Amino acid sequence: MVSISLSPHPVDTTRIRAAIQALQPDLVAWRRQLHQKPELGFREQLTAAFIAQKLEAWGIEHQTGIAQTGVVAVIQGDRPGAVLGIRADMDALPIQEENDVPYKSQHDGMMHACGHDGHVTIALGTAYYLSQHRDFAGTVKIIFQPAEEGPGGAKPMIEAGVLNHPDVDAIVGLHLWNNLPLGMVGVRSGALMAAVELFNCTILGKGGHGAIPQQTIDSIVVASQVVTALQTIVARNVDPLESAVVTVGKFNAGTAHNVIAATAQMSGTVRYFNPQFDGYFEQRIKQVVSGICQSYGADYKLEYYSLYPPVINDERMANLVRSVAETVIESPIGIVPQCQTMGGEDMSFFLQEVPGCYFFLGSANADKDLAYPHHHPRFNFDETALGMGVEIFARCVEQYCH
Ligand code: NI
Repeated sequence: MVSISLSPHPVDTTRIRAAIQALQPDLVAWRRQLHQKPELGFREQLTAAFIAQKLEAWGIEHQTGIAQTGVVAVIQGDRPGAVLGIRADMDALPIQEENDVPYKSQHDGMMHACGHDGHVTIALGTAYYLSQHRDFAGTVKIIFQPAEEGPGGAKPMIEAGVLNHPDVDAIVGLHLWNNLPLGMVGVRSGALMAAVELFNCTILGKGGHGAIPQQTIDSIVVASQVVTALQTIVARNVDPLESAVVTVGKFNAGTAHNVIAATAQMSGTVRYFNPQFDGYFEQRIKQVVSGICQSYGADYKLEYYSLYPPVINDERMANLVRSVAETVIESPIGIVPQCQTMGGEDMSFFLQEVPGCYFFLGSANADKDLAYPHHHPRFNFDETALGMGVEIFARCVEQYCH
């Protein structure tokens, strides 16, 4: 049999769409099953078993137990070619669900409040579709990743070799996105999401009587100066044309109105898009804290962690996703390039290794009361987006593996 490869591959709109529309009831059923059994990061045993059982039933080659609970499926096309990775995160959040739906979470205090149940479903739907339609050149590797919400499953999966044997040439991934209505897709080349860094700082002063301050070093006064001075890093050190955030989200000190607190504790987060800031905020925060402490005679302890790098999309892959998404949503005005967020995602580790594109698939529908934000106890999304996600991934394969 002779296969002819054209670029771009001719698009048979009706065939893919019909197959995926037929799959829609299954997608909804799988998503609702997953939604009832949310699991936290690195404890996604039921989720992994659900995925493996489906892949097994469909005769799809797969491996389980990667980075504890990760699963990787490999689907070969009917001729050799490039290797495309598709990544889906699997974990839920420690939130008590407040939705009153028949498929409500059955796990107390845990909820799929970010839509990762939908991501697993879309990846499964794509696996099923591709296993039934192997007329593509190359290989698709579907990566089901644990612990996106923390502490991060992407890095350990990469270290376990998921991008090798066969080597992944490019990668795509999506997030269902209630900041966009159903029918819109947020995609752009370059930075999409921010780097995430975390710091814990303890100011070590000297406690004493609230009426005798001269015998003390007031940690609350010192820490308050620190909080104020930290605001100047973004305001006065960062180029105004760049984006960055320094937030002190936690501040604890003191025990009584008439006692000067010996210690004050703060925690905060730092966000930025430009990878050139790697290490910069850690250094500046240290300078600010140490300088202020020195001037008041206080001491300090500072812990600083770089959690996720920024999510940076490859231009070519972003163009591919954009053109595919236009076909799926049938509207170029539904493509939103102004979709950057200072939120973070460990998809960034995959994008550091291979060119790729992460994008937002609009999933809010206010008419159906499906517009609560992510991580809200009433978060839910329009399940019509599930089929759209499968279609976008299937068309990415059609365009990339040809
Ligand atoms: Ni998420």
